Amino acid sequence: MRPSRPGIDKECRGLRRARACAGILALAATLTGLAGPSRGAEAEPFRLCADPTNLPFSSDDPSQPGLYVEIGQALAQALGQPITYDWYKSYFGKRTVRVTLLGKQCDAMIGLPLSDDFMGPAVIFSRKLGTEGYALVANTNQVIGGIGDLKGKRVAVQFATTPQNLLAERDDIEKVTVLSPDEGMKALDQGKVDVAFIWGPVAGWLNKTTYGGRYRIQTTEGEGLSWDTAVGFAKTSKDLRDRVNAALPQLERTIAELSVKYGLPGDRAIRFTGASAVTRQASDEPAAEKNDGPAQSLHGTVGTGPGVVKVANAAPPEAKADSATARPETVSSGKEIFNGTCAHCHGPDAVQSERRIDLRLLNHRYGDDMRTKFWTTVQEGRPAKGMPAWKDVYTDDQFESIYAFLLTVQSQSND
Ligand code: HEC
Repeated sequence: MRPSRPGIDKECRGLRRARACAGILALAATLTGLAGPSRGAEAEPFRLCADPTNLPFSSDDPSQPGLYVEIGQALAQALGQPITYDWYKSYFGKRTVRVTLLGKQCDAMIGLPLSDDFMGPAVIFSRKLGTEGYALVANTNQVIGGIGDLKGKRVAVQFATTPQNLLAERDDIEKVTVLSPDEGMKALDQGKVDVAFIWGPVAGWLNKTTYGGRYRIQTTEGEGLSWDTAVGFAKTSKDLRDRVNAALPQLERTIAELSVKYGLPGDRAIRFTGASAVTRQASDEPAAEKNDGPAQSLHGTVGTGPGVVKVANAAPPEAKADSATARPETVSSGKEIFNGTCAHCHGPDAVQSERRIDLRLLNHRYGDDMRTKFWTTVQEGRPAKGMPAWKDVYTDDQFESIYAFLLTVQSQSND
């Protein structure tokens, strides 16, 4: 451990480049008599943000650090910088990135989805690191080369994921919904399903560590099924990004070896375009790196979920909020509720590739009836179709704010 002045250092980490902070640090050093020999000779640490409990990707257990942490260590070494970690349980992809990387708690996050859509211009990326996606897991004697081969089979699909959407309309495939890759592997192992269509990296890891490699893992690719990953940085870290880009080519072999070590599927992906395959733009936004898979990581643990205390019914439903009059705070609180509770089915920020549950199409679909449709659907739900009723969970005010948010994301096109 290097000497540190916890309180101030902590605050100044966020302001590393701000002159004010340097001033405070110098002052503090003088005041506390810590102004010893200059630390200038010491290289700045390469601060990596990672989830402490996300194997095969990352772990705070030094005996089994995980793929991303080991890549981080190799990168730091190539950059000639010591590595430090900022551990943060990433329950919610974008939120994690906002708090840690954009909050300047760290310099880099490994394994973010390489997509401009991910967080907009706030996050910049290194060159491509790898590809991750959903995989078909089955006994080694079963060869599955496409969606047709699933016919007549019992298939485990992860709840609220692209595979579930993809197979939803296939009557000739028996679906068994599971909540995690772990559960999918168990169902397979217990003979409850013939195939598990689950998050590949974790399937590979479990196959290696728990199931003695007895299953064959076929990676899939297609919209919402796979995406490229990279190292992500805040947009202010262009220098670091360039240095990382320069270092990555020489680490190619190390990265390949580490991928094998952590059981990541290294097969050639098969392209999967099913009946209801995703047609809109790359919008099944991977949320980055929770081991349950991208969509799972969107599960709302963000504090505004069910369980919110219901307060007075202040605003009657007639109190119209349209995008022209809604206050920005209303929209942003609606967005927060939405991303905390609704996003794991309807997509983060309502970006959803499956039309049936794409709430950006509400206006296109209902026109003048949009408000009424919204209101009755969120109040009563459509339980038979998988849409819960929310009237005991949120206040009218909260529904208004969700509505105000949805108004801001309505599709302009007429397709
Ligand atoms: C467990 C998954 C799930 C959650 C969570 C969820 N929904 Fe839904 N929602 C659905 C499904 C599935 C449908 C489509 C039902 C159908 O096919 O008619 C739907 C439909 C809707 C519709 C009607 C869409 C249309 O075009 O008719 C609205 C509005 C809606 N949801 C709003 C919300 C809001 C707001 C939240 C959060 C408070 C939410 N939903 C949370 C699954 C969910």
